[in-house]
Amino acid sequence: MYEATTELPTRAYDSVNETTKSAQRDAMLAPRFYTTDFAAVDALKITPDNRQMWDDILAEFRRDPNKDHFKRNADFDADFSTMDPSLREQFIDFLVSSVTAEFSGCILYAEIKKRIKNPDVRELFGFMSRDEGRHAGFINHTLNDFDVAVDLSFLTKAKKYTFFQPKFIYYATYLSEKIGYARYITIYRNFEQKPDKRFHPIFKWFENWCLDEFRHGEAFAVLMRSNPEFLEGRNRLWIRFFLLAVFCTMYVRDHARAPFFAQMGMDVEDFDRRVIALTNLISRQVFPHTINTDDPEFWALLDTMWKNTDAMRKAEEQGGLFSKVKVLALKAANVVTFVRLYLRPPHKQALPADVRMQPTW
Ligand SMILES: [Fe+2]
Ligand SMILES: [Fe+2]
Repeated sequence: MYEATTELPTRAYDSVNETTKSAQRDAMLAPRFYTTDFAAVDALKITPDNRQMWDDILAEFRRDPNKDHFKRNADFDADFSTMDPSLREQFIDFLVSSVTAEFSGCILYAEIKKRIKNPDVRELFGFMSRDEGRHAGFINHTLNDFDVAVDLSFLTKAKKYTFFQPKFIYYATYLSEKIGYARYITIYRNFEQKPDKRFHPIFKWFENWCLDEFRHGEAFAVLMRSNPEFLEGRNRLWIRFFLLAVFCTMYVRDHARAPFFAQMGMDVEDFDRRVIALTNLISRQVFPHTINTDDPEFWALLDTMWKNTDAMRKAEEQGGLFSKVKVLALKAANVVTFVRLYLRPPHKQALPADVRMQPTW
């Protein structure tokens, strides 16, 4: 298991660049690095009724359809020094959070592969780690063009590791893979409509890229359907918690970056509604209870959460005793908002017989 440590010799810390430090900072909403109970992952089984689907997915991974996709072309040699400084800053922020998320998947999957013997699951995690490493490397190459590449080996040692029960890893990583797919494809489709807004060639890579994330999500879906205890009883309450936690986090983070979405020609509210509704819809392949995204109150409560968080940031900037009290009150208001979201009636459905879905959006 990874040793959870944030304390490093000062000299080692001083020698890494600002981007690496910002990727290392454990802000409340930043992507985290995870570790888990590997013996429990080793005990996962593939049931006979899911075997064919599993073998098909593994055959796709072996075929490696994106083997030659992550190669840069001449478009990347363009001069980006004329990019508007505020856009540059927001783009780098977007890339750093993306590279951290990709890389955290890469090392978690690699660690699981290393720690388990179960041949089915071991092979899968090896393939997924390969893909995420490729994704992280590709983003980091672009960061390097801006002279701000993240030191990924440093991050492995310096980032704080959070222990998660295996079932929480399955819910959270399944959702992050599917939400990753939904985000990449929505951004890609936006630029298809508005090519003049595509300010960097990396976005052209998102179409095939998102198919990797989709495939990773499919593998988790089949794994969970093969081990149905993760989808039953009290675990349904955990699933609901994870769906809401993932959606709230994304909504608040994206709204804090509204100007960046505007620069890409998108309205952040519209983007988040599309991505959340699509991810929620896809997740019905595996989760018996999902969110009713047709409920206007659901969106109103997400908006309350964002407004509270923004007011918190402003109060923190002001400083002083009154601001501290205000921040506490806003934090409490967000807890209440989350509970209200949690208590809304879920969308219940019988799980479809055919687990697998096709990426047709
Ligand atoms: Fe990825
Ligand atoms: Fe992925």
